Amino acid sequence: MEFPFDISSILPTDKNSICLIHGKKIRHSTLSKINSRHGNGTTPLSAIIDTMGTLSSKAQKLKTIITTYSKFVGTNQRLYIKTEGSKVVGILKIGERDLFYRDQIGDIKELTCACVLDFYVHESCQRKGYGKEMFEKMLEYEGMEACEFAIDRPSGKLLKFLKKYYGLWEFVPQNNNYVIYEQYFTKGRFAGGKKRNKVGFIILIFF
Ligand code: ACO
Repeated sequence: MEFPFDISSILPTDKNSICLIHGKKIRHSTLSKINSRHGNGTTPLSAIIDTMGTLSSKAQKLKTIITTYSKFVGTNQRLYIKTEGSKVVGILKIGERDLFYRDQIGDIKELTCACVLDFYVHESCQRKGYGKEMFEKMLEYEGMEACEFAIDRPSGKLLKFLKKYYGLWEFVPQNNNYVIYEQYFTKGRFAGGKKRNKVGFIILIFF
């Protein structure tokens, strides 16, 4: 997705051209200083987030837009933005949710889960490996395994993606439409598994 401004001067990225933004730190970061306001109250950053969020919701045929700048700013959520040259390729939004989970025998657990809340790769770039690259970087930055995330209302494409790359396919359908894979309970930190090191927040200092 092309924008009418120089993406590289607006989004500081890592060596993989991925920018990590924390909703709580946005106002006081160098990122907000780079993104000076235009006359209409928008900034290049808010235009990028609002446009990509709108495209994501359209692609998922959702009635509401999950990711907007105003909904994101001030939250504890993390937004990964993949760029390539002058284009924004995709977004991946992560955040925590308190969820009720009903298992096969009907027992209910209350869980606080890191969740994949919104994931979108622009139509012109899908099925070229960008989604995998973004997801892998996110796992590294968050210091987590794929099975440790709950997925908010995953699309058919995302279900196939998670099955293909992470062997995730078994889950008990929930009324709240979140998917928590069986491996959540058998591997990873819920099952007492080893935690990966979180590297994301080192990078955040510069943003
Ligand atoms: N049909 C079926 N499977 C697909 C499709 C598709 N049209 N697109 C991607 N996939 C899955 C397949 O497993 C595919 O492997 P294959 O080509 O061998 O079949 C694999 O993803 C491709 O991997 P990547 O190229 O790394 O993935 P991509 O860059 O396409 O990103 C994503 C995946 C984010 C799901 C992207 O396809 C997309 O944005 N889709 C539209 C929006 C969407 O559905 N987002 C998820 C919503 S749910 C949520 O956000 C919590």
